[in-house]
Amino acid sequence: TKSGYDHYMFKEILEQPEALTRTWEGLASTSLNQVEEMDFAKLDRLQIIACGTSYYAGLVAKYWFERMANLIVEVDLASEFRYREPPMPSNGGCLFISQSGETADTLAALRFAKSKHQYCLSVVNAPQSSIARESDFVYRTLCGPEIGVASTKAFTSQLAVLFDLVKQAAKQRNAGQHIIQELGDTPEMDVINAVQQALNKANKIESIVRFFDDATSAIFLGRGQCYPIALEGALKLKEISYIHAEGYAAGELKHGPIALIDENMPVVVIAPYDRLFEKTVSNLQEVRARGAKVILISDKLGCEICKEYADCFIEMPTLHETLAPFVYSIAVQLLSYFTAVQRGTDVDQPRNLAKSVTVE
Ligand code: F6R
Repeated sequence: TKSGYDHYMFKEILEQPEALTRTWEGLASTSLNQVEEMDFAKLDRLQIIACGTSYYAGLVAKYWFERMANLIVEVDLASEFRYREPPMPSNGGCLFISQSGETADTLAALRFAKSKHQYCLSVVNAPQSSIARESDFVYRTLCGPEIGVASTKAFTSQLAVLFDLVKQAAKQRNAGQHIIQELGDTPEMDVINAVQQALNKANKIESIVRFFDDATSAIFLGRGQCYPIALEGALKLKEISYIHAEGYAAGELKHGPIALIDENMPVVVIAPYDRLFEKTVSNLQEVRARGAKVILISDKLGCEICKEYADCFIEMPTLHETLAPFVYSIAVQLLSYFTAVQRGTDVDQPRNLAKSVTVE
């Protein structure tokens, strides 16, 4: 049930601290029982395959696997991968990410990879699903059933599983130990607390949807691990509010999309104060100079530094840059949710969409 909330989507957004807790606890207990553990040390390459929001979780994982586990990762859309006839290296792994475990293109890509003798891993929410049944290693998100068509808690739970796999891979491949150390002993607890703090900003986020009142289009910008979150923010906004939105890598703006910028274009900049912050700020200034209304999502320090450069601020809790995708997802979920509510769309059941896409 919606337990008193207007929409399942809002309920599911708010459930994320518990969903993450359950997912991480579940992984801890399954690894105890698991007879065999995936050995990432023997992989020359990991190919991640998924669709939609699950694909964006895969993009975040690419940044993590490469930087922390020194593993070459490619990420592909299932509908492209399956028809491309890509070469499959002999020590290759394929990782499929799917909430439903039934997405037709992802399942077909899994069957293709199996026929090419790849190690097939999957991250699924539905344990009895076809993708779960046909994979060599299955990792479950324990976010519970997701009713809202737009993926929210499934996405952050996928990130939770992927983060765990990255840590496992880093250990097995003897890589990234300085980052693991920086993250400290309880990065999972830090994430759960920060996600809760981010959710506490719901009222503030609701108050800024006025920036989208007259918008017919919006742009989301991010760099590094927040680039996939910009893509996810744009997807979430378009699917539930029907406002056209595009996510771009902040550095790509000047190669074309900047032509779109004028006073009617809200630009959401996702930029925690990290190694890449200064670079993103210069992109922010470029769009502001062309009249765009800039909504900055950053942490305390980032918002302070940019006081003069943005029209409004969503302040997220500060945490290690590696973990930023967890909290910045919450901000874009809430932003699109409240914008859709304001527009009066059918938030849980957007037009033309189905929860499980079992056709090609
Ligand atoms: C977006 C959304 C979709 C799904 C996509 C993949 O909010 O929900 O983009 O992420 O259809 O679905 P699964 O993860 O079930 O394979």
